[in-house]
Amino acid sequence: MKLTDREKELRFKTALDAIDEILDPSNIENTLQNVCVILSERIPYFDWVGFYLVDREREGELVLGPFVGAPTEHVRIPFGKGICGQAAERKETFVVQDVTQEDNYLACSVEVKSEIVVPIMSGDRVLGELDIDSHELEPFSDVDRRYLETLCNRLATLFGE
Ligand code: SME
Repeated sequence: MKLTDREKELRFKTALDAIDEILDPSNIENTLQNVCVILSERIPYFDWVGFYLVDREREGELVLGPFVGAPTEHVRIPFGKGICGQAAERKETFVVQDVTQEDNYLACSVEVKSEIVVPIMSGDRVLGELDIDSHELEPFSDVDRRYLETLCNRLATLFGE
């Protein structure tokens, strides 16, 4: 389902409003799970929505957190590996509109055609990231990037760091 940027704006606005209502710093796990549910329910081309969090014991490694969608074998991802690992290393949003064009990619399912990964930052430090897979080709625009970055900035405040 292709949405215009205007339609996306409306959906993201209501999704972020709903998320603002459920942010709970005393239960981050639950909050992140609810964020996954809200995004996957309201944005039709978000087919897998999940979080990877930086392992506190092993800096430089991401561990799978709450998610909605098909189970993935990629439970731990070192920085630099795959789209997730590259986003963590670069400390910036990584958009791949067609995963077949990306050599450094960890496939989760053959249905996935595109992916966007947005780091959750505290100053210069990566705390984790929001990872979204889509079964559509080239579904992401600047609207997705802008709203998801706003969301991740808000989520960063939950960690209190
Ligand atoms: N495709 C990701 C791996 C995680 S799954 O999308 C859930 C990557 O290349 O890093």
